[in-house]
Amino acid sequence: MGDPGADRDLSSDLSSDLAAARQEYAAGGLAEDDLAADPVTMFGRWYDDARAAGLHEPNAMVVATVGAEGQPTARTVLLKGVGPDGFRFFTNQASRKGRELAAQPRCSLLFPWHPLERQVRVDGVAEPLPRADVEAYFAQRPRGSRLGAWASHQSREVAGRDALAASYDEVESRFAGTDDVPPPEEWGGYLVRPQVVEFWQGRPSRMHDRLVYRRTPGADGWTTARLAP
Ligand SMILES: Cc1cc2nc3c(=O)[nH]c(=O)nc-3n(C[C@H](O)[C@H](O)[C@H](O)COP(=O)(O)O)c2cc1C
Repeated sequence: MGDPGADRDLSSDLSSDLAAARQEYAAGGLAEDDLAADPVTMFGRWYDDARAAGLHEPNAMVVATVGAEGQPTARTVLLKGVGPDGFRFFTNQASRKGRELAAQPRCSLLFPWHPLERQVRVDGVAEPLPRADVEAYFAQRPRGSRLGAWASHQSREVAGRDALAASYDEVESRFAGTDDVPPPEEWGGYLVRPQVVEFWQGRPSRMHDRLVYRRTPGADGWTTARLAP
């Protein structure tokens, strides 16, 4: 076996390959004049670009939450709605992220649109979505996904794959003969109200463009600024 850390040594092939891997970014630029009046409109433009470019799952975003000890964790979820109030996603509220958001609703979202040499970061505050919104979205999901939500207590330890399969079989027989599969109580969604939204566009020589929107304190508007890359 040896030392499991040894193959991550800086002298390893993997590390030298990583150190040598670099890409010049020259696909485009982002100027102050390009910015929309608000970050959600701006996000919509870039999201349309990501879709038009054929990116795989352009609505996949990394959600970072913070635990009680100050330990951040990140995971990918799918953006399922966006509007002037913010960004929506669905998950299990008893999962690690759900428990962390209940105690500390501040979170960060990251859209890594690498083929476009772009990323968008949203720092904000999450609040649970109304039950009616959760039910409406859940009803659109394929039957298998709805049953899976009942069969899996997300983020809990399971004895093995067999235990998961048995749980799914049990749920399948419970809901046999009906298409009325409501969301389990622990399943829900969040609205992340943005406070700070940063648009990043790669540029040559690491002189990237970073334009950030910040909520105007005590008002409804946004101020913008440029950050050093
Ligand atoms: C592309 C992709 C999309 C995902 N979408 C979701 C999602 O919309 N909701 C969700 O709960 N988990 C989603 N997951 C799984 C999460 O990354 C994660 O494993 C799960 O939510 C448990 O996270 P937690 O234990 O940190 O709470 C997705 C994973 C990937 C790779």
